[in-house]
Amino acid sequence: MKNLELQDRKDRVFARGMGNLLPIYAARARNAEIWDEEGNRYLDFGSGIAVVNTGHSHPEIVQAVKDQLDAFSHTCVMVTPYSTAVELAEKLTEITPIEDALAIFVSTGAEAVENAIKIARSATGRPGVIAFSGGFHGRTNLCMGLTGKVVPYKKGFGPFTPEIYHAPFPAEYLGISPEVSLAALDRLFNSVIQPDQVAAIIIEPVQGEGGFYPVPDGFLSKLRELCDMHGILLILDEIQTGFARTGRMFATEYSGVEADIITMAKGIAGGFPIAAVVGKKEVMNAPEPGGLGGTYAASPLGCAAGLAVLDVIEKDSLCERAVELGNRLQAGLHRLQADYPALIGDVRGVGAMVAMELVNDGDVNRPNPELTKALTTKAANSGLILLSCGVRGNVIRILVPLTIKSKHLEEGLEILERVFVECAGKT
Ligand SMILES: Cc1ncc(COP(=O)(O)O)c(C=O)c1O
Repeated sequence: MKNLELQDRKDRVFARGMGNLLPIYAARARNAEIWDEEGNRYLDFGSGIAVVNTGHSHPEIVQAVKDQLDAFSHTCVMVTPYSTAVELAEKLTEITPIEDALAIFVSTGAEAVENAIKIARSATGRPGVIAFSGGFHGRTNLCMGLTGKVVPYKKGFGPFTPEIYHAPFPAEYLGISPEVSLAALDRLFNSVIQPDQVAAIIIEPVQGEGGFYPVPDGFLSKLRELCDMHGILLILDEIQTGFARTGRMFATEYSGVEADIITMAKGIAGGFPIAAVVGKKEVMNAPEPGGLGGTYAASPLGCAAGLAVLDVIEKDSLCERAVELGNRLQAGLHRLQADYPALIGDVRGVGAMVAMELVNDGDVNRPNPELTKALTTKAANSGLILLSCGVRGNVIRILVPLTIKSKHLEEGLEILERVFVECAGKT
């Protein structure tokens, strides 16, 4: 009852725009398990949307934050900075695949993207930004403009900032080839905005909210060439893909492409609100002192957590573990797909960022958001937190904590298979 009572109270005081997926109220969480206010246990296959890559309440991260709390919780990094902020910036600039990099810290993913665009405009003196259909970059005004999904992120919220253009994201399953995408960019340059007015191209190496579509091999290199040809900066939004999620610290490592700027948040601090922008020195240094920042930027708790997260990722070999987890998850989903080829159109993923796309009659053009919704609801009722995504609302995405115990992974997969069979029988 407590869950429903709380939901009722929430509905009375929260605007509906800030909805929640499930009427499950968390009381406690450890690694990949969550217990609700009624004492029910759930396996968490969503990690609070790719945030707790290091598991809920990892003891080392909790301890680091407790120690920081005992010391101080806020001084403002722009007034009296502290060693943990310096150390985190040292570590991030070292591990980010960008030569001679500098960092700034902010509080959320959207803020990181906003700042990346500010920096790119300042460095190039150009206004234009190109993003991709299906991309998700956050909920602030500039980020909404960049986002390539209308409902619910943009509907009724315009006008958006000018000088933002979109090209089709090369999603192989949807039949959008890299050639189609590059040709669209060419058309943009010929008919809409001249390339020397474009500050940056921003792209997720694997689309998150948009449906877990990885950029095809070679596409980032092509974008890099295009950017170099026209003096455009390449921004990779690694907010969902970063911090070992895809089997590398950053997904772009698979491509070998060096971005000018990378945005990071979510997994960076295992649940504490901090985000970063890391980029090439000459680009990052373009804005005037004081032009970047924020009262809570580089929160001491976030910095302490971030340093602990990096230690845990290294010590527990979480990049390697992400690959193992991804292989196991994909094998499970492929087995299910073999039994239900008409409903599971595609199984895909990079590392532990795994998805299945649900359709009708095996037809990519007939998405099945009804089955997707039924599955997430039934899974939750059976003790498994599952998330959906996709511009068409028909993709189940799996983002397990990278620290999940194998027995919990197997248990969650079993629940997923069972509820899928039950839901499939009803559609
Ligand atoms: C790729 C990407 N960029 C930006 C954001 C926005 O981050 P935040 O919700 O912290 O503002 C998200 C959040 O889901 C994301 O996945």
